[in-house]
Amino acid sequence: MKLDLKKDHNYQNGIYDFMAGTKSIVVANKEIDIEVDYAWDYASDPVITPTIIHEWKYLDKLVSKNVLKNARSILSIGGGGSSRTHEYLSPVTQEFTILNTGMWDLVNAQIPIETINTYLICATGEDMPILDSQIDAIEIPATLDHVIDARKVIEECYRVLNGGGKIGITLGNSDSWYRKVVSNLRIQVTSNHDHHHNFHFTSKDVENLLSEVGFTEVKTIGTAYLKLPKTIERKMKAPVLLAAHRFISNTMLRLLFGNSKGGMFLTYAMKPTAR
Ligand SMILES: C[S@@+](CC[C@H](N)C(=O)[O-])C[C@H]1O[C@@H](n2cnc3c(N)ncnc32)[C@H](O)[C@@H]1O
Repeated sequence: MKLDLKKDHNYQNGIYDFMAGTKSIVVANKEIDIEVDYAWDYASDPVITPTIIHEWKYLDKLVSKNVLKNARSILSIGGGGSSRTHEYLSPVTQEFTILNTGMWDLVNAQIPIETINTYLICATGEDMPILDSQIDAIEIPATLDHVIDARKVIEECYRVLNGGGKIGITLGNSDSWYRKVVSNLRIQVTSNHDHHHNFHFTSKDVENLLSEVGFTEVKTIGTAYLKLPKTIERKMKAPVLLAAHRFISNTMLRLLFGNSKGGMFLTYAMKPTAR
């Protein structure tokens, strides 16, 4: 993987910092602040239940199977911190790059085994300091709703991917069946954390974005269909209960509701090979 080292940067403590104090991006004549202070360790957040963590692991497995498999060079945009991608890398992976605007995620990033070259880059997904056609697979884990210019990020992904390379985007779904029920019944929900989201995507929005930029074979897998009261979810720690929860959530209810109505989703696609 070749970095664009002509761009201004510092290299310190194993991190390439290309932000050099950049704090905002201008989109449509509006200056918008970049998220640089994200720092969330879910393990110490009481609202995160065993079932939520189990759902995240399931989504990670889907990314591994549908996006990262057979990729020699992998880029994670918004990874690091509590992300567990290092556990799901393909045996053929030789390079793993984490690009994030936040130093906390980079400093606390879990590094894979040392035979895999790991790059930590502080930069925006909108302007990646990576030369063209360097990467086999990109994951954007729960991050596209945090960026400022989602289309620019997807265009940058297209640029740095090799032909035949894959992209996978995971997100909470603004069009999930239970969010609709909650909003129709006007039930007050206390948010599970105070992260700021610039966008609230549906899987259709992400599919359209990928197609517009030129990606093909765009597919979505919906996940996390089952939501129980927190008091019950907190008690579901036994592996057999979690397995039953996953079966109902991601097999039975997915069959019932279809791929676009889960609480979370993975949308993945391919950059076509040049003809
Ligand atoms: C919900 S977090 C993703 C998961 C996170 N790694 C964790 O462990 O929880 C969203 C991430 O997006 C990063 N981010 C925000 N704006 C970004 C941008 N424009 N380009 C790249 N990363 C960005 C934040 O720093 C944050 O780490």
